Amino acid sequence: MTASREEKYRKLEQAVPGELEKLQDLVKNCPWRQTYHIQPPYGLLNDPNGFTFYQGEYHLFYQWFPLGTFHGMKYWYHTKSKDLAHWDNVGIGIEPGDAHDSHGAYSGSGIVKDGKLYLMYTGNTRDEQWNRHPYQNLAIMDSSGAITKIDHPVIDSVPPGYTDHFRDPKVWSSNGEYYCVLGAQRTNGTGCVVLYSSQDLHTWSFKGEISTKLTDFGYMWECPDYFELDGQGVLLFSPQGIEPNGDYYQNIFQSGYIVGQPLDLTTSKLEHGEFQELDRGFDFYAQQTTAAADGRRILVGWMGLPDANYPTDNHGWANCLTLPRELTLQGGKIHQRPVRELEKLRKQGVKGEAILQDETKSFAGFEGMTYELVCEFTNTDAEQFGIEFRAGENEKTVLSYDRNSKKVILDRSLSGYPVAVEYGSVRRCHLDAENIKFQLYVDTSSVEIFVNDGEEVFTSRIFPSRESTQIRFFAQGGTAACRASLWKI
Ligand code: FRU
Repeated sequence: MTASREEKYRKLEQAVPGELEKLQDLVKNCPWRQTYHIQPPYGLLNDPNGFTFYQGEYHLFYQWFPLGTFHGMKYWYHTKSKDLAHWDNVGIGIEPGDAHDSHGAYSGSGIVKDGKLYLMYTGNTRDEQWNRHPYQNLAIMDSSGAITKIDHPVIDSVPPGYTDHFRDPKVWSSNGEYYCVLGAQRTNGTGCVVLYSSQDLHTWSFKGEISTKLTDFGYMWECPDYFELDGQGVLLFSPQGIEPNGDYYQNIFQSGYIVGQPLDLTTSKLEHGEFQELDRGFDFYAQQTTAAADGRRILVGWMGLPDANYPTDNHGWANCLTLPRELTLQGGKIHQRPVRELEKLRKQGVKGEAILQDETKSFAGFEGMTYELVCEFTNTDAEQFGIEFRAGENEKTVLSYDRNSKKVILDRSLSGYPVAVEYGSVRRCHLDAENIKFQLYVDTSSVEIFVNDGEEVFTSRIFPSRESTQIRFFAQGGTAACRASLWKI
């Protein structure tokens, strides 16, 4: 969709008469509205922002452009939850349009200080020549939920050596000091992350670039996030400009992490291992984490990608967030499990089991558009086995394990309305295991797949017709024992 600058950089109150009603009508009649994912009321959603536990509730904001399904004047939209499973829409959190966020309240994060929730975000501005001038701003939410913007930036310039692609502050505290990482681009056109520190969240000093081995790894790193897990330092980020390599980096943009020694806050040095992708599906980007009330590290991502079109664009809305996932580290690798609170979404359940031998089978009661499905395959000698879901006469999404290549394969070529086919319709990832457990969360237009308790995750939008509700289990070239449970959501 091509929209003019004037159309993109409009605020809500600049909607022409009837425009919002038209968008809302389109949304109401959309066949692909989600039922238990955070999605925009209308308009476009992108990155999760400001994810924080504050006064007994999780607050989670997202980037929102209300007046169309393209990227324009970004607001922060506010949602909250007591249990990470059920979310309430609160409304606009941060409204752009002031001197230091004239062209959007871009991504950022939250931290609790002195009983208030501090939200640090990038103010996007453009001058008359359309040059960007990014500012890092603060907005403070009090216990009544009122959010007040501080009227001046807390970081008002880009240090020498970096371009105006300088954004997405993620704040944390350590030993009584505050730190934040920002996504940046060096003047030589490569991406990196920089570090700032502060005593009070208002005055920040530049500590330098986080020094990593990845000195030439894409042209921009967006949405960095740093935290420690099990005594290890983890840096998440979304690098842009990485070329596909075998099964890796197949999407237009990537998201992943490096793990190593805790970040040295004096030298800004991070000793680390290889870059690893967080998600092996088609639609995942710009994730953000927070610490849960009990210390668990919880991640939420944008179930979408920059510069991608989706079939809901013609229905007045675009994109949603992923379900919250708990992160753990095992042997230098992040494992991601759906947070246990999601069990609260389970309604009536059914079970089924069979020894499959060169056949495709369904179990009684296994069907639907919105459910959680757990399926274990054991005693396998079949060459391939797996699940077809959101299946009908002509449509199916196929998740399988190929024992010869030892790969998990997600095929959305017959999933329904085609999406981003120029980037391929199959995703594969290597996994060496005897037994395979698939846990799927299926919503009207998405699937999140956790393989072997989150060793690998595939997150994808799919756009099947409403008639495609079947679920079938299969084994080819041998046998596989299959035991499945399904809960409607
Ligand atoms: C990532 C991103 C961020 C930016 C925001 C704008 O998707 O480009 O870098 O802050 O989206 O909406």
